[in-house]
Amino acid sequence: MRILVTGATGFLGTHLCRELRRRGHHLTALGSRQADLTHPDSLSPFASDTYDQIFHLAAWTQAGDFCLRHPGEQWLINQRINTHVLAWWHAHQPQAKLICMGTSCAYDPALPLVEDNYLAGQPIPSLLTYAHTKRMLYVGLLALERQFGLRHLTLVPSTLYGPGYHTDGRQMHFIFDLFRKILDGQRTGNPVVLWGDGHQRRELVFVEDFVRVACDLAPTVDNDLVNVGASEEHTIRHFARLICDQVGYDFDRIQFDPTRHVGARSKRLLTQKLYRLLPNLTLTPLADGLRSTLAWCRDRLVPQTAPTAADQPPTRRPAAAPLPQPRLHALSCRP
Ligand SMILES: NC(=O)c1ccc[n+]([C@@H]2O[C@H](COP(=O)([O-])OP(=O)(O)OC[C@H]3O[C@@H](n4cnc5c(N)ncnc54)[C@H](OP(=O)(O)O)[C@@H]3O)[C@@H](O)[C@H]2O)c1
Repeated sequence: MRILVTGATGFLGTHLCRELRRRGHHLTALGSRQADLTHPDSLSPFASDTYDQIFHLAAWTQAGDFCLRHPGEQWLINQRINTHVLAWWHAHQPQAKLICMGTSCAYDPALPLVEDNYLAGQPIPSLLTYAHTKRMLYVGLLALERQFGLRHLTLVPSTLYGPGYHTDGRQMHFIFDLFRKILDGQRTGNPVVLWGDGHQRRELVFVEDFVRVACDLAPTVDNDLVNVGASEEHTIRHFARLICDQVGYDFDRIQFDPTRHVGARSKRLLTQKLYRLLPNLTLTPLADGLRSTLAWCRDRLVPQTAPTAADQPPTRRPAAAPLPQPRLHALSCRP
């Protein structure tokens, strides 16, 4: 198939493109340098090709308390990105199936995290804007399906982990932060301090499992939203203990700081639909996934020598961390 991928340069996009190529597809792989999607005409150079599928991964976000600090920019940037992709799909590629990434943050934590509840209730306040831009992306897909008969699929992953993450100093998803801090503690003897009391629960999906699922579901499931989770969650303490065992660091030396931002207390996607669609699905065991992630992290996640914005306690009205100059357009505040 001919497939266009936005967000192809990101953590997930890199793995997805590798798997799509391995399956023999012809790819147009776009990062923001090839097409800054905050600009309405950014996809014009690609309109003359005809695509069978479009994977839309591009989004402007980071982990930690980034969403709490940048809600206005996130709304402006992600709404533009999603609107431009949907408009281009409708105008130039209506034959293509559009596969989008949702987020578990879109769910109201008070409700079961089952697909029918994706648009129900309210996401947690610290992730409200990011969550709603993802909900609006899904609403846009439903609207274009209803009026124009376009085909789409939304996949909602829980937190992804694996080799090939970012090493540019941005805020990291919790599991990479655990690796970085514990590796640093083991190397330097510095105290390891983790955010929260350690009893908040999280679910992980190995990124290579997720891309296999995405490639399998993309051609077969139309106009639906599917959670992709591991069906089990663990406390941060459990993840930390497993990493300590693999790294060789004494878990009992870890300190927990309950004053820090931790987000939702619990996040586990219900995955009955996923297993109905892929009854033979087997996922990488957590210890194996962590081992392969650790092998990648060892020489790459360098210790932080100076506190970052993420290390400052959030204030009531946080000033946005300074962002580098936009590359292409005055309105694109790229990190
Ligand atoms: N990672 C997770 O655990 C997770 C969990 C749930 C959902 N998701 C979703 O999965 C998708 C990919 O996540 P990820 O972890 O791979 O994110 P990522 O590593 O931050 O990658 C983001 C991608 O978006 C691109 N992008 C950002 N702003 C853009 C712009 N203005 N124009 C064009 N491209 C732009 C980036 O391009 P450049 O790098 O070239 O600037 C990059 O390729 C996102 O939609 C995310 O919401 C991820």
